[in-house]
Amino acid sequence: GAADKGIYAHHTLKEINEQGKTITGALAANHQKLGEFAGIISGAKHVYLTGSGTSSHAAMVGKQLFSKYAKIKSDVIISSEFQYALDMIDSGSVLIAISQSGESADVLQSVKNARQRGAKILSIVNVSTSSLARASDLFLDIGCGPEIGVAATKSFTAQLAVLYSIAGQLSSSENKEIFQGCDIAPAIDKALALYPAVARVAEVLSTVNDIYLLGRFLHYPIALEGALKLKELVYVHAEGIAAGELKHGPLALMDKGTLVILINPTDNTFMDTLSNAHEMKARGATIVGVSDQNNELYDYWIQLPKVQDVFYPLVEAIPLQILAYCMAVGKKVDPDYPRNLAKSVTVK
Ligand code: G6P
Repeated sequence: GAADKGIYAHHTLKEINEQGKTITGALAANHQKLGEFAGIISGAKHVYLTGSGTSSHAAMVGKQLFSKYAKIKSDVIISSEFQYALDMIDSGSVLIAISQSGESADVLQSVKNARQRGAKILSIVNVSTSSLARASDLFLDIGCGPEIGVAATKSFTAQLAVLYSIAGQLSSSENKEIFQGCDIAPAIDKALALYPAVARVAEVLSTVNDIYLLGRFLHYPIALEGALKLKELVYVHAEGIAAGELKHGPLALMDKGTLVILINPTDNTFMDTLSNAHEMKARGATIVGVSDQNNELYDYWIQLPKVQDVFYPLVEAIPLQILAYCMAVGKKVDPDYPRNLAKSVTVK
């Protein structure tokens, strides 16, 4: 059954490993409603994206894809803050709500409030019978199957996959090609095969109390998501930082042995993020480079497979999920059911 862990020790590990199938499935899915969904977005006066936790990080990636490739402006407002932004919402607004469960109270309340003010509601869900799906004018299903582990893993990358499809649909034909004709499956398999390398890094990190994750552009939401996985699964202080903000504060934290995970694939962010690595290294930081290219600044290197630039978030998320999983196991805490947390938070 769905709750069966199969050969895996934990649901979380099983779900991480399912991503070979779930990502390709979600990217290739023939969403019959995709055209209509994109049409509603194009017709909006103002587009908002909302979600909680991991789903809000997917929303942040979506926003960047919409603006860079489809030239559509949107704002991300996390669902717990949405109630304070209502003055801006009217009948010209479209709200895209993202939720694995479709039952998070903050998300449902945001949708209710937005609808009251005349907004159209689109959603991206994993449960087509959920309250959110029912409360939407139109929804897309990420179709990754039941997710049991409290910390979201395969649902995050499936949400990204659906956001890629939407961005592709919204893009000009020239940009559309960026999202098409790409066989991502071998790269996902390579990312999953990083397990032994990531397990070694997990051991190195097992004694640290603070972990900083840095990235720019599409990699900033992944830094936030990696930090969230570490908080949820390992109970360690972890902070996602937009790498360019380093000089505006976080650099003061850098000292001998400060642990930094640098998300730095060879895209348009590469050189700037590398110069951030220089600045941190000069203060004694230990740097774990997450990149398709090694660098002398990296004390440890998690080698990403090469993919088209736009798809790096998918292959970055996977080793960060594995890292949190391995650290939880090393710490002998249950990765499937972190203390104090619930899979879906249905109360305010
Ligand atoms: C809870 C879970 C998180 C999840 C968030 C949003 O806080 O512990 O892992 O990201 O809810 O859940 P949703 O089902 O709305 O995506």
